[in-house]
Amino acid sequence: MSHFKKLAFLFVAAAMVLTACGGAAPTEEAVASCAPNCTYADMVLCYPQLGAESDWRTANTASIKETADQLGAKLIFSDAQQKQENQISAVRSCIQQGVSVIALPPVVEDGWDAVLTEAKNAGIPVIIVDRSVSADQSLYAAHIGSNMVLEGERAADEFNKMLPDGGAVLELSGTTGSGAAVGRAEGFRNKINDNITILDSQTGNFTRAEALPVMQAFLQKYTPGEDFQGIFIHNDDMGIGAIEALKSAGVQPGDLSIVSVDGTRGGFQAMVDGWFQADVECNPLLGPQVFDMALKLMNGETIDQEILTNETVYYPDNAAELLPSRQY
Ligand code: AHR
Repeated sequence: MSHFKKLAFLFVAAAMVLTACGGAAPTEEAVASCAPNCTYADMVLCYPQLGAESDWRTANTASIKETADQLGAKLIFSDAQQKQENQISAVRSCIQQGVSVIALPPVVEDGWDAVLTEAKNAGIPVIIVDRSVSADQSLYAAHIGSNMVLEGERAADEFNKMLPDGGAVLELSGTTGSGAAVGRAEGFRNKINDNITILDSQTGNFTRAEALPVMQAFLQKYTPGEDFQGIFIHNDDMGIGAIEALKSAGVQPGDLSIVSVDGTRGGFQAMVDGWFQADVECNPLLGPQVFDMALKLMNGETIDQEILTNETVYYPDNAAELLPSRQY
């Protein structure tokens, strides 16, 4: 049996003091038996990926796998195909295998309390990655990812600039109940001007394939330019699906104001082609931070509970120049 399976439960008074000051101590103050000298060679990191629904997700998976390889850490990776029950089973399997740390990108926000409690009782720290969970913060060590509310606010700012006299927009939203969709919708509504109406909002589940029929149905119901002037799209993949529907309906690039989220190569191409007027960045390259924080937790170090990625907004004016160097 490896020493990962023999996690020592060390009650570190200093860690408790730091927690009280706003830092996050390792879950249950459990640290690996190699602490404080654990290295990546000691680490078994569990990454129950939520799916492969978008280019963003593909880049996130690659970042985790490449970082594990570079650092010499062992990775237990699985793909839940956008199903929470599959993710929960994968987490339980990792608990049984006695991994060092679980890094969980949750498909939806709710429904994690039981399995997070099981991980905590097993002394395995959990880092929530990318999307958020609604579970109590005492059940996980930290969250690493984007500020989804801010992303929605940034999208609203773009529409406020593009539609100063008001108008109506459609919203193609992400997976229902996911931290990304909930946060972006909230941020958008926080900031959108009173003279801009959200005419309709439907989910495209963050995929091209599901966004296409949703956009087609919108176009059956509403006339572009007359009933609505813009579309807020929660990710680039759905944007690409929506563009297919718009093209088939005879809509031309620039006829509508379109803002998407992610900043993938596909999103940059849509800006070059004139379809998107802005793309709000959501960075998937979280591997280095996830492994760095996981090692700190193994060694009993205190880390921040909320670790947010620094992001920006991209525009068409330099999209062609930046496109060749995009990493995802
Ligand atoms: O949670 C991040 C979101 O999930 C990305 O915006 C989207 O592309 C992905 O599917």
